Amino acid sequence: VAPPAVVSDLRSAVGDAHVLVDEDARAGYETDWSGRYTGRAVAVVRPGTTHEVAEVLRICRTAGVDVVPQGGNTGLVGGGVPRPEGSTERPAIVLSTRRLGGVSAADPDAMQLTAGAGVTIAEWQAAARAVGLDAPLDFAARDSATVGGAIATNAGGSRVLRFGTMRSQVAGIEAVLADGRVVGSLAGLPKETAGLHWPSVLTGSEGTLAVVTAARLRLVPRFEHVVTALVATASIGEAVDLTGRLRRQLGSLDSVEIIDPAALALVGGHLGRAAPVTPPPGGAALLVECAGHVDPTSDLVAALGDIAGDSAVAVDPLQRAHLIAFRDRITEAMNQASAGGVPPFKLDVAVPLGALEELAAVARRAAADDGCRLIAFGHLAEGNLHLNHLGARDPATIAATVLSAVADLGGTISAEHGIGIAKTPWLHLVRSSADLGAQAAVRAALDPAGILNPGVLAPRPPAIGRAATPTAPQVP
Ligand code: MLT
Ligand code: ZN
Repeated sequence: VAPPAVVSDLRSAVGDAHVLVDEDARAGYETDWSGRYTGRAVAVVRPGTTHEVAEVLRICRTAGVDVVPQGGNTGLVGGGVPRPEGSTERPAIVLSTRRLGGVSAADPDAMQLTAGAGVTIAEWQAAARAVGLDAPLDFAARDSATVGGAIATNAGGSRVLRFGTMRSQVAGIEAVLADGRVVGSLAGLPKETAGLHWPSVLTGSEGTLAVVTAARLRLVPRFEHVVTALVATASIGEAVDLTGRLRRQLGSLDSVEIIDPAALALVGGHLGRAAPVTPPPGGAALLVECAGHVDPTSDLVAALGDIAGDSAVAVDPLQRAHLIAFRDRITEAMNQASAGGVPPFKLDVAVPLGALEELAAVARRAAADDGCRLIAFGHLAEGNLHLNHLGARDPATIAATVLSAVADLGGTISAEHGIGIAKTPWLHLVRSSADLGAQAAVRAALDPAGILNPGVLAPRPPAIGRAATPTAPQVP
């Protein structure tokens, strides 16, 4: 129950119109994009300036109200929505950063611009393109996902092989600590060794250390020539070999995405057209993109070699969009396939490339043992597979099997979606107790009252200095 004084204080801080208390108004902020994670907030608060964010945090800290920072709400691990009912002792607000908009004029020489945390990835791209440059980041949720959310989760997407994850794009940051103090700098100096580097500290911290309000962001060249290919390989091993060859031979290589045959069939049904390539069971379709100042098409076709036989290559924007849809719209296709039922159970894992074939085999076995339908796709160049289980009977067993195998293979239990609340039970597989203890100590130092996103990234209470005790998996 909301302490009434808190709601009226929040209204004074940000204006009545930006404190949403009605159930209908809150609903869109209380369930995440996966549809699996949902909770109740006493209010959704939408500050419009850094100063207002600081005020909101001060009010909540004094009143003992938890704060769940949220960007575009395209998260998939329950990290940006209130915790499930009954799992927390304190009331929580959602602090939506969507009103922290505004993009500064781009600096084409420094190749940077400043964006509010609420600026979407698509708006970042548009602002860059307006000055003949581009954003280094791209993924399917671009129209809703925000800069602040991408920083919080260290988002990746399809261009990571060329430009790195969000961590590599943040040249400066402004953020508000739990007590309302503002830290960071938006100067964007590429070289600075004057103490803690706030972009590094905060990127990937999932709203547990501070609320990001703005960032100085890197821009990259806008390439006039883009070629897209959809290619079938007979096995995952062949796909990995091809990826290595393309990386070695093509300076213009922008992305290599992987789609398993089941995902290709599902999205084909959703789009109402069959894919132009047909990978065999155990094989894969690869969506490859090259971009350059000179046309990279002939280089790409040459590098594909024999595989060019089972491929479709497009340079025309409409034809390219037709191919890209087979990758971009898989999540939408899955959501539609499970509409009204239980949303897919998702794992977002990465392993060293040499172990990808083995991971795929483990995932197929785990899904077969459960009797569910596995839809696998992802970002091949980073060994990052999104494993989606439709109709899973026992998600906890699938997770335990797959995530343990991932850890044994030297991989990670979260490549780009974050830990949220969904993956906390398995953090100990990839983080030592020393790691978790140090992380908890940093968190306690910056947010002693523990109001920022409790339950995310570490089970509550944080296990400072103690051995990591695996908690029972809680898969909603
Ligand atoms: C993607 O690569 O499409 C995103 O990570 C979303 C998803 O995994 O569903
Ligand atoms: Zn992804």
